Parts: sequence; C-alpha cells; structure tokens
Amino acid sequence: MTARIIDGKALAARVRDGITSEVAALAEHGVVPGLAAVIVGDDPASKVYVGMKHRASAAVGMYSRQAELPADTTQEDLERVVADLNTDDEIDGILVQLPLPDHLDPQRVQELIDPAKDVDALNPYTAGRLAIGDPTFLSCTPYGVLLLLEEAGVDTTGARVTIVGRSNLVGRPLANMLTLKGRDATVTIAHSRTTDLAAVCREADVVVAAAGRQGLVTADMVAPGATVIDVGTNRAEDGSLVGDVDFDAVSEVAGAITPVPGGVGPMTVTMLLQNTLEAARRRRGPAEGA
Ligand code: GUN
Repeated sequence: MTARIIDGKALAARVRDGITSEVAALAEHGVVPGLAAVIVGDDPASKVYVGMKHRASAAVGMYSRQAELPADTTQEDLERVVADLNTDDEIDGILVQLPLPDHLDPQRVQELIDPAKDVDALNPYTAGRLAIGDPTFLSCTPYGVLLLLEEAGVDTTGARVTIVGRSNLVGRPLANMLTLKGRDATVTIAHSRTTDLAAVCREADVVVAAAGRQGLVTADMVAPGATVIDVGTNRAEDGSLVGDVDFDAVSEVAGAITPVPGGVGPMTVTMLLQNTLEAARRRRGPAEGA
C-alpha cells in the first residue's frame, strides 16, 4: 500500500482564505484583530517561528506586533510586558514564544496572560477548561491535527488513537480534544516510559507522533491502513527538517500520512490566526445578528 499524503499546506491555504474573508467582514465593523508575539533572546528557531506568525497574521489582514526582548530580560520585566498587552485594546491575542531562557519561569508568564486573549491556549485556566470538556480556545497544534484528520476523512468516533508524547503543547491537549463529546475517540497517550510502544501503536487506527525524536515511529509500529500524523520537527544531520516518523517506510503501510514539512506545521500557524479572529470577535465583534 502507498499512503495518501495529507496536504497540510493546501488545507492551511484554504482555512486562511476563510479567515481572510472573516477578517475583512470584521473590518467593516471597525475591528482589526490584533496579535502580539513576545520573544525573549536570540533562539534562531524561535525567531523563525515568530517571523512566520507575524507574516501570516499580516497576510490575512490582521494587526501584528512583536515584542523582542533581550536574553537577560528579568521575570519582572517580562511580566510587565504581558500585563501591558492584557490591557491593550488593540491586542486580541497574546503569545509568548517558548522556550524562554532558563532563568525565566514560563508557567508564571502563561498564567498571567488574560484568558480572553490566550490564543496559544497554554494558560492553565485555558488548559483546564478543555480538560473539563468546556474549552475556550483550542491549542494551535492539536487543533490543526483535528482539521488534518477531518481532511483525511477520518471519523474519530470510536476510533483508537495512540498519541506518542505527553507534552502540554501537543499530547495532553490533543487527548482532551479527541475525547470531547462529538469527537469520541478512544485515546492512549504513550511516552518514553511506555512498555512495548510498537504494540501500543499497532493497535491504533490513528497514530500521532509528537515526541520530538527523529525516526521514532517505524513501519512495524503501524497497522496496515492506519492514519499517521507526524507532529515532529527535528533537524536531521544534513540540516533538513524531519518529523518523528520514518516517512518512506511508513508510507508503504499507512493509509494516509502527513509529510514534514508541509503537514502539521502550516496548520499550527493557521489555527493561531483562527483563535485570534475568534478572540477579536468575542472581545470586540458586533453583537449577534448585527
Ligand atoms: N514553541 C514551539 N511551539 C510553540 C507554540 O505553539 N507556542 C509557543 N508559545 N511557543 C512554542
């Protein structure tokens, strides 16, 4: 079998077209959704990601602002920047790019972000609302995974999904999203201490690889016809971007698979835009029916 490629780039372009139209409609009511990205230090990957988010938000007609803080920024100064953004009416969404330099406490910063502006969905309040089945915002990468599964025609109701990776950014929120009423998947979260990871993956109709380890998911770990979503973004020895899945071999077994690049990545940024649009609508949009 040769798997169908799930084209995240094409899906992202379609979703962004919809967002562009909705931003234009909101502009007629005098509202331009605003996204602020805070970046501390000179981590090259973070700079690339924040640059992408900045360009993408401008491309759909949003207002975008970047706060670039030096690597030796204090916790107090960072918290002041976030507090100012919380009260800035032009800003509907705030994200603090991770990782932060070691001397800063990301948890305390995430907790400070106004839940109404928490478009990255990393504030424990936002994560907790999702965990109790009443979400406010869905975190961007797992939200993108949901849309990729829909695109692949996967009905998650009753499906067995194995997620490899238990991060707060992907694994945990994705498990909570997939078990919401209406999604109704049966989810296993596997991780580095899981016994017989291959067997746990082989039982699944859908395998989501989100462990951050190149080559972790091999062909013998995937049931014939299963759908494979690769969230990994690793640098190979030659500098190229690769996922967690052995793409060539797994493509021979799986029914559908996302590539890296061009799978989950474009969807992450797209869902950030979707959340920012939603935040602007809730905060400043016209009343229902207006
Ligand atoms: N670093 C890597 N991915 C992300 C993300 O989705 N949000 C933030 N804030 N930082 C990240």
